[in-house]
Amino acid sequence: MTTTHGDGPAPAVIVTGAGTGIGQSTARAFAAGGARVLAVGRTESTLAETAAGHDGIQILAADITEQDAPARVVGHALAEFGRLDVLVNNAAIGVFGSLADLTPEGAEAQIRTNLLAPIFLAQAALDPLAESGGVVVNVGSSGATGLRSWPGNGVYGATKAGLDFLTRTWAVELAERGVRVVSLAPGVIDTGVGLRAGMDHESYQGFLKHIAGRTPSGRVGRPEEIAEWIVFLTRAESAFANGTVLSVDGGLSVT
Ligand SMILES: NC(=O)c1ccc[n+]([C@@H]2O[C@H](COP(=O)([O-])OP(=O)(O)OC[C@H]3O[C@@H](n4cnc5c(N)ncnc54)[C@H](OP(=O)(O)O)[C@@H]3O)[C@@H](O)[C@H]2O)c1
Repeated sequence: MTTTHGDGPAPAVIVTGAGTGIGQSTARAFAAGGARVLAVGRTESTLAETAAGHDGIQILAADITEQDAPARVVGHALAEFGRLDVLVNNAAIGVFGSLADLTPEGAEAQIRTNLLAPIFLAQAALDPLAESGGVVVNVGSSGATGLRSWPGNGVYGATKAGLDFLTRTWAVELAERGVRVVSLAPGVIDTGVGLRAGMDHESYQGFLKHIAGRTPSGRVGRPEEIAEWIVFLTRAESAFANGTVLSVDGGLSVT
């Protein structure tokens, strides 16, 4: 798949969680490269912001944890675009808490959103992706790569480590169908996600400053810096990247 499509059909892309942050930048980056994008999230107003001024972006309000969502999302993309080249499993939620503090609701919501929804979206997308020689990009987290632990964020980290495991496994399973699967593992990116996870403004800014001080690059990341890597991983030039988990985190995970 390539986002520079010449005379061929424009690539068709699904980005989940595209109303804010990394998903919004990713939808726009694909559209800027000439792709047609279905931006998916639960909130119509933020999706509309993502699409404003970007002709290639269509929106679909959907909760990806609902049972019929995978078929609905993929069916919508096929009806609009007639093909599917890329699925970006980006939507996720974080509910902080160490083992003693976990609630069933918080743990289950993270597992449903961050792990089960990407599984069944990828399953629903499988046939059209096999037809186009497409790519699945799972958005993980550099904090959950390697042999790391993550005190206070274990369930979130487990969903992301699980997603990376699925990336490796699906890359092998789907190779014979011509579908590539990769993970992009961002470091700390200033998307406002901490605020949405319940932190107040001061604590979130303090967290970003603390992380910047610990990061070899001396700062946190911007959503566009992740979006460009996601797009690049789907291009023909990246065809040899398969089962790869790529950390883009200013070097934080190698400290
Ligand atoms: N920001 C970071 O520092 C960081 C670091 C490492 C990894 N990541 C990962 O990068 C990805 C994007 O993060 P972000 O910081 O851009 O977060 P974000 O701004 O909170 O974006 C997540 C998006 O997912 C959507 N979403 C949540 N639950 C959903 C559901 N059930 N159905 C459909 N959409 C849903 C949200 O929109 P609605 O609420 O409107 O549905 C939101 O737009 C996530 O996978 C995250 O885990 C982020």
